[in-house]
Amino acid sequence: MARRRMVYEGKAKILYEGPEPGTLIQFFKDDTTAGNGEKHEMIDGKGVLNNRLSEHFMSGLNAIGVPTHFIKRLNMREQLVRAVEIIPLEVVVRNVAAGSMSKRLGIEEGSPLPRPIVEFYYKNDDLGDPLVTEEHIIAFGWATQQDLDDMVALALRVNDFMSGMMMGVGIKLVDFKIEIGRVYEGDFQRLIVADEISPDSCRLWDLKTGEKLDKDVFRRDLGSVSDAYTEVAKRLGVMPRQNGSTTGPKLVH
Ligand SMILES: Nc1ncnc2c1ncn2[C@@H]1O[C@H](COP(=O)(O)OP(=O)(O)OP(=O)(O)O)[C@@H](O)[C@H]1O
Ligand SMILES: [Mg+2]
Repeated sequence: MARRRMVYEGKAKILYEGPEPGTLIQFFKDDTTAGNGEKHEMIDGKGVLNNRLSEHFMSGLNAIGVPTHFIKRLNMREQLVRAVEIIPLEVVVRNVAAGSMSKRLGIEEGSPLPRPIVEFYYKNDDLGDPLVTEEHIIAFGWATQQDLDDMVALALRVNDFMSGMMMGVGIKLVDFKIEIGRVYEGDFQRLIVADEISPDSCRLWDLKTGEKLDKDVFRRDLGSVSDAYTEVAKRLGVMPRQNGSTTGPKLVH
């Protein structure tokens, strides 16, 4: 069997060359990091859950016409995606104050925001992914004004879709981060949602109890990360089958 070429290994995922030009295979690892890699643990099965959950969210977005890189899931840990040119920005949408915004502005965690707030962070680990304004982004050529308008529109559509889906299973979408990339189609280029959407990149709070069901469980040592992610997957009906041993052999025609 031919060895496939690894394109990139990040903290949570590995990218391999895909079977066709313009595609990549995204492998979800169990590695879990916080504080720019300062805290690092392996969480058994986290990659499997995030692969399923990202598939669920991205295929739902594709179905309502919000373009994403997701093509299909290949197995428990891998999905086939469209290769994009990643815009070096993390796009964050917030519905409720939490995390770095609460700290920076002194707004109590849990305060609802009057409207969703979109923020941009420059993707640069050495600098700790600093918050940047549209002025910085345009001046330094990371994206154009048109790109920014498209990114805000995409991010807000993702927010509407995800908020509704989570609300339906008793979870509040507090905030989330997406990455966006460029694809070229003939003379045109457009922006699509890339990377992952999972409890690693969202804040998810139980509507009734306020219990955290996301990576803050890891960041703040609040209990079992895999229990929290499994709870999200269960509520959404995307629990992976346990290693196949619970089902009998299947007749193959
Ligand atoms: N469709 C895509 N095409 C090209 N690159 C992608 C695509 N989707 C995600 N990526 C990139 O693949 C990498 C995924 O790996 P991972 O999330 O583990 O990285 P990371 O450790 O968070 O580091 P960083 O995001 O800073 O590179 C990220 O760099 C992400 O920007
Ligand atoms: Mg990442």
